[in-house]
Amino acid sequence: MSKVHSKYVCQACAYESPRWIGKCPNCGEWNSFVEEVVSTRTPRKHSALIKNVSAPVPITEVDIQPESRMSTRIPEFDRVLGGGIVAGSVVLVGGDPGIGKSTLMMQMAASLGQSVTLYITGEESINQIKLRSERLEMKPTKNLLLLAETNLEIVGALIEKSEPEVIIVDSIQTMFRPDLESAPGTVSQVREATAMFMRFAKTREVPVFLVGHVTKEGVIAGPKVVEHMVDTVLQFEGERHYSYRIIRAVKNRFGSTNEIGIFEMHDGGLREVDNPSEVFLAERKSGTAGSTVVASMEGTRPLLVEVQALVAPTSYGVPQRSTTGFDAKRLQMLLAVLEKRVGLHIGQYDVFVNVAGGVRVDEPAVDLGMALSIVSSLRDKPVDPSSVAVGEVGLGGEIRMINQIDKRIAEAKKLGFKRVLLPKNNLKGLRLNGDIEVREVHSVEEAIDLLMDVR
Ligand code: TYD
Ligand code: MG
Repeated sequence: MSKVHSKYVCQACAYESPRWIGKCPNCGEWNSFVEEVVSTRTPRKHSALIKNVSAPVPITEVDIQPESRMSTRIPEFDRVLGGGIVAGSVVLVGGDPGIGKSTLMMQMAASLGQSVTLYITGEESINQIKLRSERLEMKPTKNLLLLAETNLEIVGALIEKSEPEVIIVDSIQTMFRPDLESAPGTVSQVREATAMFMRFAKTREVPVFLVGHVTKEGVIAGPKVVEHMVDTVLQFEGERHYSYRIIRAVKNRFGSTNEIGIFEMHDGGLREVDNPSEVFLAERKSGTAGSTVVASMEGTRPLLVEVQALVAPTSYGVPQRSTTGFDAKRLQMLLAVLEKRVGLHIGQYDVFVNVAGGVRVDEPAVDLGMALSIVSSLRDKPVDPSSVAVGEVGLGGEIRMINQIDKRIAEAKKLGFKRVLLPKNNLKGLRLNGDIEVREVHSVEEAIDLLMDVR
């Protein structure tokens, strides 16, 4: 086998070198050299190129073919994918080790029983995979083919032969091209491996799932290059100490990136969570100060979560502001509004805020709930536990309109809440039926008066 020609290229300034060097002599960057394959093909002439290429087309003459999607028959997973698997798409499933990536892929393979699925494993032996499938109580099917191989040349030859309809690669970091000097898992190897599967997916219209590890810093190892190349990046999240797992679309060329899928890890694998709000509110202790329930939208789905705050006198010179699952700048803004408009003095207090259950809420509609939690903790008075508060807080302390209010109210009603506090402007056009009380509020102060026994 002949060695391919490769060179080392600085990823910061594109300086080339035949050998690896630690510091780029051109731009001075450290550790920026990555091995790249040199193409030995002689460039073709223009006339030869143009023969097989389609000419530019006026946009009015483009026929849109609805992309064909295949359902995984796991509705939570389908939703994150944007409604099913798109033919020829490449999906990267990233997450910490042990979070359940292989389990999810295995369950998907089982539920795709009708299609020939090739599971390429570089991390576990075929026996281990078989054991997992037994643990998952999967019905054995001839359509699921297992291949324990990491050499891309062999993998490439075998996938040509076995004609799979779906390919799973577990994991992309173990795959390597033997003719490249770098070790598996390095940027150049991961990029070449991804490129190979991309080509296969696009020419054969076969969907490919790549499992990828996430480093401690939270980036998918074999870094951003892979994320840029693939069509869809799904991130598997979850705390080791909780059993539920959230799949989030970080990038999706075929759907929305707002959707999340929620699962719970059991003895028999991942189970879908039909009613996520219940899960996130399960451990709520009603009647404690510093806790408010808000209705947040995750994509098209309302999710009730508890936002918590702890406000305590600072013991160091500089008061701390710390957030988990909430934007730190947004917290600063809320604190400033509370100081200036509500007249609270928080300057000498540490403020910790947290969204319970390890979820992240990013939309402004949770502002009001967070502000209430902060005031509640500062004054040590609980917020009415049977109420849900939604609304964006403006710099003037006013409560501003939010979207999709009907869905949020419906979710609160479903979980037995008695009252929803909402922005005044959201009241217009609201279809109400008597089961739940809705109260309009104009300002943070008004909300405090309504939900807390203070003053
Ligand atoms: P795994 O899918 O191997 O993780 P990854 O591929 O992301 O590294 O799953 C790892 C964990 O899930 C492991 O600690 C065991 C647990 N698990 C269950 O709790 N129930 C199950 O049915 C299975 C298969 C795994
Ligand atoms: Mg695994």
